[in-house]
Amino acid sequence: MATLLRIDSSALSQGSNSKYLADQYQAEWLGNHPQGKVIHHDLGVNPPSHLSEATIQAMYTPAESRSADQNAQLNESNQALQDMREADTLLISAPMYNFGIPSSLKAYLDQVVRVGETFTYTENGPKGLLEGKQAIVILTSGGNYTESPYNQFDHVTPYLNTVLGFIGITDVKVVAAPDMANNDNKSTSLNRAEEALLEAV
Ligand SMILES: Cc1cc2nc3c(=O)[nH]c(=O)nc-3n(C[C@H](O)[C@H](O)[C@H](O)COP(=O)(O)O)c2cc1C
Repeated sequence: MATLLRIDSSALSQGSNSKYLADQYQAEWLGNHPQGKVIHHDLGVNPPSHLSEATIQAMYTPAESRSADQNAQLNESNQALQDMREADTLLISAPMYNFGIPSSLKAYLDQVVRVGETFTYTENGPKGLLEGKQAIVILTSGGNYTESPYNQFDHVTPYLNTVLGFIGITDVKVVAAPDMANNDNKSTSLNRAEEALLEAV
């Protein structure tokens, strides 16, 4: 079954531009996949746990040697991995917060990037294990970082390309909706982003 995993990371429960755009993508995707399954996590509503020492130790303990406590430490991560594996398409809506991704999204990704599960080390270096998936990233920002010299301040696009590529997701399309704080440009920017998103479905 076609499966869309949608991860929202705006802290706003109302009036979020990134969630609005994700809604448009999801509606179009469901139109194309009427039998499809959507797994939706709103990290603003249900923030993931930050990595703890115990969780990291459990992650780096071989599965056959883990204690019951260590297995329990990995429940949240295991659930996130199951969602990722099930999905063909990953939709991440990410507002820019202080030039980077929201900390909730970082915490979520920290649960997903796991040695032996989503990446492994080979003699040719690290290799991502989540292959054959596509990711769509919706990036909203108050300012506009789409052109030089301001593009150097966008740490969302390069970071998400890097971390998703590291776990094997190399087909990543970033749709930016800049200028959300500019009342003259906001609606044009949202319309453009919406068009690009619908084309990407
Ligand atoms: C805590 C916080 C930090 C922000 N940092 C930036 C920033 O560094 N650069 C920027 O252009 N906009 C910044 N913004 C503006 C948001 O990116 C913009 O309002 C965007 O629309 C938020 O997405 P949302 O509407 O889905 O919440 C920030 C907003 C908040 C709440």
